[in-house]
Amino acid sequence: MPAMKTADLIITNASELVTMAGRKRPRQREDMAHISAIAEGAVAVGDGKILACGRTPDILARYVQRKGKPLDARGKTVIPGFVDPHTHLVFSGSRESEFVMKLEGKSYMEILAAGGGIQRTVRATRAASERELLRSAMARLDRMLLHGTTTVEGKSGYGLDLDTEMRSLIVLEMADQRHPVDVVRTFLGAHAVPPEYQGRPDDYIDFIIKTALPEAARLKLAEFCDVFCEEGVFTVAQSRRLLQAAKKLGLRPKLHADEIVRTRGAELAAELGAISADHLLKSSKEGLQRMKESGVIGVLLPGTPFSLMQKEYPDARMMVSMGLPLALATDLNPNCMTESMPFIMALACYNMKLTPSEALTAATINAACAIGREGSVGSLEPGKKADIAILDAPNHLHIPYHFGVNLVETVIKDGQIVVKNGARVAKV
Ligand code: NIG
Ligand code: FE
Repeated sequence: MPAMKTADLIITNASELVTMAGRKRPRQREDMAHISAIAEGAVAVGDGKILACGRTPDILARYVQRKGKPLDARGKTVIPGFVDPHTHLVFSGSRESEFVMKLEGKSYMEILAAGGGIQRTVRATRAASERELLRSAMARLDRMLLHGTTTVEGKSGYGLDLDTEMRSLIVLEMADQRHPVDVVRTFLGAHAVPPEYQGRPDDYIDFIIKTALPEAARLKLAEFCDVFCEEGVFTVAQSRRLLQAAKKLGLRPKLHADEIVRTRGAELAAELGAISADHLLKSSKEGLQRMKESGVIGVLLPGTPFSLMQKEYPDARMMVSMGLPLALATDLNPNCMTESMPFIMALACYNMKLTPSEALTAATINAACAIGREGSVGSLEPGKKADIAILDAPNHLHIPYHFGVNLVETVIKDGQIVVKNGARVAKV
């Protein structure tokens, strides 16, 4: 009999343990439905990493927990912590008054043109101190963690001047250090044309390329560079110029593409070899095909059409059948105010007809791929981070099926229990 090994923590008897084990690359087509589930599952954790996953008797035959009793997950579902690959985590204020305007029939672009929308949040964010921005970002990270998210991407983009853009990225860095949730940083200086550059978008892009982007790169404040490529915001030519400059400085491109109008952002993402193109509501089939051929991941944000009260959603079924790997994200921002990946999975299933297993793949391993973290998170496999959510549900179908409530009971981050009985565990 092999010698017993010790583990810091063992989770046992899960009615369903979803490991997402498989190749460390984006899952596409029918692979999106393969979630590698184990019945009566157990996970052994050591030094903050996954040691092994398997059936409970097999794990208990190989591992013994160093102290105390294993964590019994009888009747529960164990999944990798969610990865949220597109959030606007740093902003000040809220826009509930615009929510009412939307109910009255105003469109997103009308609200933006009237000085609301992104511009309103820019004014509030510029006026906010680093401390205030950090406090609100940390509160959002708490809500994310309570809903099972353990890694997020966060963007700047509500500063649109050198000071506030850098302050936003620094806040993201501080939040990453102080909060259990891992935060990956994206520079989105090209989120809108600021009032100082009204009517001069090319001059603003010049400013970003000459000043803001080199500063973000020099201070190593961002890994990715994003742009709102949209009619009335930045054109494909402006977006191309910016993202090419970003690539030269070592930042990988991402795009807000074809959200409201078909500007051919998907084609641009393919041309530039972007890591992801996000939204894709109006993308052409040819653009999506080119994305697939260039290895660009499609990040779908169903919270956005939902919060814009639109009937139309991205054609996710067509994207899956053409082999485009899909990820899901909240797009958390003052227009789309949610921190909940389970809610986004519900929208993806109810409104885009993803199956629960496809949606879970999109919210874990494919989401990790969309931010270059497939080597460390997104699945429960030996050597990866022990980032785990335990749900009060017998199987993963309940995540979208039982919507509008929080089924997350326990969250383990880097091997530590950070949420217990649905509440944050106080730091010791
Ligand atoms: O991804 N579309 C551009 N940016 C955000 C919305 C930002 C805002 O409305 O404040 C998005 O939907
Ligand atoms: Fe966004």
